[in-house]
Amino acid sequence: MSGNARTSREKWGGNIGFILAAAGSAVGLGNVWRFPFITGQNGGGAFVLVYLLCVLLIGLPIMICETTVGRWAQSDPIGAFGKIEPTPGRRTRTVAVLLFLSAAALLVCRHYGQGAILMILSLTLAVRGWRIIGYFSALVPLVILSYYGTVGGWTIAYFFKGLAHSLNFTTTEGAAEVFHSVEAIPGVSVSYQLGFMSLCAVTIWFGVRQGIELVSKLLLPLLFLLLVVLIIRSVTLPNSGEGIRFLLYPDFGKLSAEGILLAMGHAFFSLSVGLGLLTAYGSYLDADKNILTNSLIIVTLDTGIALLSGLVIFPALFSVGMPIDQGPKLVFQIMPIIFNSIGGSFGWFWSSSFFLLLTIAALTSGISLLEVTVCCLVDHFHFKRRSATVLAAAVISAIGVLCSISFDDWSRLPALQRAITFLFGGAKGSMFDMADKLSSSYLLPIGGLVISLFIGWGWGTDNVVRQLPAHPAAADTPEPSLAARLFWGIAIRVVAPAAIIIVFLHTIGWL
Ligand code: PFF
Repeated sequence: MSGNARTSREKWGGNIGFILAAAGSAVGLGNVWRFPFITGQNGGGAFVLVYLLCVLLIGLPIMICETTVGRWAQSDPIGAFGKIEPTPGRRTRTVAVLLFLSAAALLVCRHYGQGAILMILSLTLAVRGWRIIGYFSALVPLVILSYYGTVGGWTIAYFFKGLAHSLNFTTTEGAAEVFHSVEAIPGVSVSYQLGFMSLCAVTIWFGVRQGIELVSKLLLPLLFLLLVVLIIRSVTLPNSGEGIRFLLYPDFGKLSAEGILLAMGHAFFSLSVGLGLLTAYGSYLDADKNILTNSLIIVTLDTGIALLSGLVIFPALFSVGMPIDQGPKLVFQIMPIIFNSIGGSFGWFWSSSFFLLLTIAALTSGISLLEVTVCCLVDHFHFKRRSATVLAAAVISAIGVLCSISFDDWSRLPALQRAITFLFGGAKGSMFDMADKLSSSYLLPIGGLVISLFIGWGWGTDNVVRQLPAHPAAADTPEPSLAARLFWGIAIRVVAPAAIIIVFLHTIGWL
């Protein structure tokens, strides 16, 4: 980065701006839509406990790594990771060779897709070094936001349907019919998805302060307020205690290996870590802000809001005796029935408030995903911010259309299904399911693993610890204490990567 670019870089208006934008990214559909449905499918309290452990032991240290690198480098993720090791050293080239050999072995065993991806990775690593983490940051939002935008579109559709009193069904058949009328008609689901993407693009168009920060400052407090009102309604219902018990009482008999992988993947997804997003956000952060305190606040807000969303949904589900293992449709099909049965003629009001809450949560996260790609296009490929926004939003929307028209199965995309089956040996579920599972169970944890290893062992945890306080570059900043260096050293170098590897090995049955 030139010195010039350094000084002209746009910055957050203040610490609150950064915290709200990062918390706005973290608090999203993951908290209000995904957390309740995967908790419902994986047995409740025990899953929640594993999730909390993953947040503290893995998510928090990686969040700190990402943010410190961004603030230190004052650059997009590609530039930031490249600045740590400008040309690939011996260790990096050895890793590249190992990856290359693994890719060749995969190709020989006819795993064409996996082999080709690993081959590209090994060559990129050999030539461009650890900038590869930054390329990953620019590309992963294309996968996540493609299906995230589909769900974001549904939330907008349901908000309007609530206002129009069209969510006044009281049976699961009625709920399925309305859901079908949004999800299964391509014209409808694609229009709402594009509407959602346009709102994200307009915000990013206006930049860091006037766009992201302003929207987060307005919307997050509103989201919190709506949540509190809904919780009060939910926990005062008859029999709500059962739901609270389901959420908080750990019954380990109901937890599977798949559930543990899901919990870990969800910690990454929910905190928005593993793809360098916080490196981009950290690069807009001034030196006088304390990264450790900020990260603790963001993690607390995100986890608190997930638990509070659980407190809206489970007490209400148990109170009206609805099934809890409904999967992705849970909040769309079940919540309006609940609101209608408890809210009487005000059912529409509770439903539209709930879907407004979901829309806000989705928007602040969708914006952040778009920002990472835009930040890389602007800093690394020298695009103008507005052209980068249009390009990134257009590409993501195009992939998103494929997710929108294939929520239930591949029947509308047979050629794509055949291609994926040829490359990867199978295409389970739908394009939507694949994008969801691929991003949270694999891409983000793998990204997190690489970041923690590269930062912990390559850059060195002392550099991270030195960046944690406010004014890290000031001459009178005290050297970090031995205890702090030891604690973060162990967390970043050992605990986070080991936990990720253990969960992966457990899932594939090697442990
Ligand atoms: N954290 C968001 C949520 O919980 O909905 C989703 C997300 C946003 C994941 C940004 C990853 C990311 F980079």
